[in-house]
Amino acid sequence: MPEANAFPDGFLWGAATSAYQVEGSPLADGAGPSIWHAFSHTPGRIADGQNGDLACDHYRRYHGDVDLMAELGLTAYRFSINWGRIFPHGTGRINPQGLGFYSRLVDALLGRNIVPMATLYHWDLPLALEQRGGWRNRDSAGWFADYAQAVVRVLDDRVHLWATLNEPWVVAVGGHLSGDLAPGHKSPHEAALVGHNLLRAHGTAVQAYRAEGRHRIGLVVNLEPQHAATRAEADQAAAARRDAFINRWFLDAALLGDYPEALVQGFGPAWPDFPRGDQRLIRQPLDFVGVNYYSRSVVRQGGADVPARAERVRQSDRPHTAMDWEVYPQGLTETLVRVARDYGNPTLYVTENGAAFPDPSPRDGTVQDPERTAYLRAHLQAARRALAEGVDLRGYFAWSLLDNFEWVYGYSKRFGLVQVDYATQARTPKASARFYAQVIRSQGAALDAEQR
Ligand code: FCB
Repeated sequence: MPEANAFPDGFLWGAATSAYQVEGSPLADGAGPSIWHAFSHTPGRIADGQNGDLACDHYRRYHGDVDLMAELGLTAYRFSINWGRIFPHGTGRINPQGLGFYSRLVDALLGRNIVPMATLYHWDLPLALEQRGGWRNRDSAGWFADYAQAVVRVLDDRVHLWATLNEPWVVAVGGHLSGDLAPGHKSPHEAALVGHNLLRAHGTAVQAYRAEGRHRIGLVVNLEPQHAATRAEADQAAAARRDAFINRWFLDAALLGDYPEALVQGFGPAWPDFPRGDQRLIRQPLDFVGVNYYSRSVVRQGGADVPARAERVRQSDRPHTAMDWEVYPQGLTETLVRVARDYGNPTLYVTENGAAFPDPSPRDGTVQDPERTAYLRAHLQAARRALAEGVDLRGYFAWSLLDNFEWVYGYSKRFGLVQVDYATQARTPKASARFYAQVIRSQGAALDAEQR
């Protein structure tokens, strides 16, 4: 049953990218290297030994990419700023050429009536700061706020939507607990400390923004419903522990001012003794919460892993993406409704949602990607359902505009609405991009058109 068209006027129809994943030219015009530059140049870290030296060459081709966005009818673009372009050493001297790049990008977007949303941190810490202890160092909150202030001072007249951090959970856990992502540490104590300092950095940057900026700032988190595999109490408890770990860690701290008890208990002796006053700094009034949603997990009790002690159970009877993530669109409705319910109905954006599939080569000027189109349709319908249930959802950003550097997977996973031929840098909009363009043009009505 098609639902009443519920996308409000002014709803932002966007696509998202991040600096290291698309820009290339990581050291151009005086930029300092990031931890991802160092990590991807470390043998054995990235599939096929790939790195972000060229990526989508967006640093040099941004103008054409903005034209492409306009062609697809996007009304918003979420990008991130590479800190090391602005402060090559992380702190100290500003590099005007780095600011110049983002300033030109923003002007190009506004020239096409595309609303820019800028993320201040999408995982690419300046290497110089990592050498000073990175996010493990309590000073990191101040470093980040100074950087935020410098950027906001120059761009806030034109950028009216800001995000402090992208997925701090992934920075803490991927970077410092599992060690799969940069900087590749494996320590529960460090992960907890990094999570805390990221939250302090977020709070300090929001304060700096209130002093310097005049528009809207929020936090972007990755959320993933945790469903118990059985009704057994032990499995239910495991799902609740993993929910506290993945979904509540950063939201409870930033919006409610406290960590979930189950999280602190799960870390046990690895959890540091934080100064009490920190919570006040961390809990700043926010203008919105950005939700990145890809999938859900089904879990049962098991494993010794700190802090969740839970195991995922693969749902082999259900469709999965090339990342082996279950396609579970109703989880997006569930997630948005839950955030609205548990956190005082904040303004929300879906800041990332999308899927990797093994796409065929272009034929007749397009790429046939029916699975991605189906994914997009079902998730946009799920977002619309959340709107109908009263969630204050203001926009949706597909991940990603372009196929790009998917972290440790290198270029092997393609999430783009637009295919990138990395040898020639040719861009080819996929069928899913054409579908999204129709949805945008029809303000959502095309979601109900007959499915072929
Ligand atoms: C998210 C990241 C984004 C991209 C997608 C697939 O966790 O924010 O950079 O890698 O996953």
